[in-house]
Amino acid sequence: MAKIIDGKQIRDSVLDRLREQVSALKAGGKNPCLCVIIVGDDAASRVYVNNKKKACESIGIESKEYALPESTTTEELLDLIDKLNADSSITGILCQMPVPAHIDSKAVLERISPYKDVDCFHPFNVGKLSQGDNVFLPCTPAGMVEMLDYMGVEITGKHCVIIGRSDIVGKPMAMLMLQRDATVTVCHSKTKNLADITRTADIVVVAVKKPYFLKSDMIKEGAVVLDVGINRNAEGKICGDVDFEDCKEKASMITPVPGGVGPMTIAMLMNNTVIAAKTF
Ligand code: GUN
Repeated sequence: MAKIIDGKQIRDSVLDRLREQVSALKAGGKNPCLCVIIVGDDAASRVYVNNKKKACESIGIESKEYALPESTTTEELLDLIDKLNADSSITGILCQMPVPAHIDSKAVLERISPYKDVDCFHPFNVGKLSQGDNVFLPCTPAGMVEMLDYMGVEITGKHCVIIGRSDIVGKPMAMLMLQRDATVTVCHSKTKNLADITRTADIVVVAVKKPYFLKSDMIKEGAVVLDVGINRNAEGKICGDVDFEDCKEKASMITPVPGGVGPMTIAMLMNNTVIAAKTF
């Protein structure tokens, strides 16, 4: 039976560490302040934004919210970002994705100052990450690395297979694992003989948005399995991309959904918010 990697417990340990850093920053006259922009009324985005604000509060970081109507234009959103970029009392900015389809999301992400880009989505920061010279960490991938470190999983020289090549998870996870001297394979929807590849993995990261996608016959005995998925199954229950019940006997460690990778993303957003206030 695999050890369960408890995302809430690890998140809390990260937040405890950050709470101390925030109070030291404030004592030194630096006040971290995260500004969150949300456009439209997507229910899931509302929950995420509320959770981000709660996390700020829990470690003593000020947060501000701009909730804009669905009808907001790209220009209006860019104007707001310009204003926030110029406001020295705001140290971190993020725009919750997805934005409504008529908004140019790429222009939005590129407009946020790279020095306030706590999501690590700006091409400048993505480029820095690929050169191993980044200040900010990509939140979900960094959360997974934090989990591996917390659990004492050796990364150097291990084969990490990532299923999914998104800009938010798959690609930046590959960069972080390379920085940690893993051997990395990125698989995706066009990959041939996927299971032959995943069966060679010491660490498997699954980020495909498909319920129960990873089965036990796709992993080797003792693999560490990290599940990024947040899906609803046929009964409407939250489930991951990994068939947890099927894989838990064969894996050596595994993240549950909910309560696994999800809570770590916000912890690492808080980490970036502290980094922004400390560094710039
Ligand atoms: N939507 C889903 N995940 C994220 C995230 O990490 N940051 C932002 N800004 N939007 C998201």
